[in-house]
Amino acid sequence: MLLEKMLQSQGFGSRKHCQQLIKNGAICIQGELQTDLKLRVNLENLHFSVFGEDYIYREKVYIALNKPQGFECSHQPQHHQSVFHLFPDTLRERGLAAVGRLDQDTTGLLLLTDDGQFLHGLTHPKRHVPKVYHVTTVDPISEQQLIALEKGVELHHEKGIFVATEVQLLNEHQLSMTIHQGVYHQVKRMLAAVGNKVESLHRQRIGLLDLPELEQGEWIYLDPQQVMAAQQGGNS
Ligand code: URA
Repeated sequence: MLLEKMLQSQGFGSRKHCQQLIKNGAICIQGELQTDLKLRVNLENLHFSVFGEDYIYREKVYIALNKPQGFECSHQPQHHQSVFHLFPDTLRERGLAAVGRLDQDTTGLLLLTDDGQFLHGLTHPKRHVPKVYHVTTVDPISEQQLIALEKGVELHHEKGIFVATEVQLLNEHQLSMTIHQGVYHQVKRMLAAVGNKVESLHRQRIGLLDLPELEQGEWIYLDPQQVMAAQQGGNS
């Protein structure tokens, strides 16, 4: 691939800007300064640097973020900061998008990608990819509430029944539950439907992928096994 095209694909701006970077001596390929605009690079295992900062060529990016509270999963946030501000410009430039949304006050596993197929595969309503949430409630959790969540509840303006599986009481005010759809405020509305209220909410798992060990606000690139794991557990 032409060097300037490779740089553009990795989020370094317009073709013109990438040409400028090359001409200005900002680019090293596998450790060697390259100023030739006609250079073609082999993408396999490609390490490069821009102004001394190291990068690995990635055809697509798959990211796990431990989302902190107070961030909206939108490029145009209304009342809080955008989660996209937790990432470098290059990732925003290459079209990073969140795989579904978490509320601004929800913490935990958020996947982000620039792979449209992966995004649509995971968010398609028919896939029913399981998502595990840890819920802290305002009121003590009763046995009846656990049973009602497992039996399923109706939600205003939504069709069908919303069931939680693998419902586990962790302590008087905390439970873990798995949901298989992803309608707006689903967990909060399900808890309200059984007569309780969510105090705080944390997503622990998507598909078979557990939240990696990350501080809030930290993120990592997922490896191919982790990308696979996130897609498992639902309908294929
Ligand atoms: N359910 C909710 O109510 N909020 C979230 O952020 C995710 C699931």
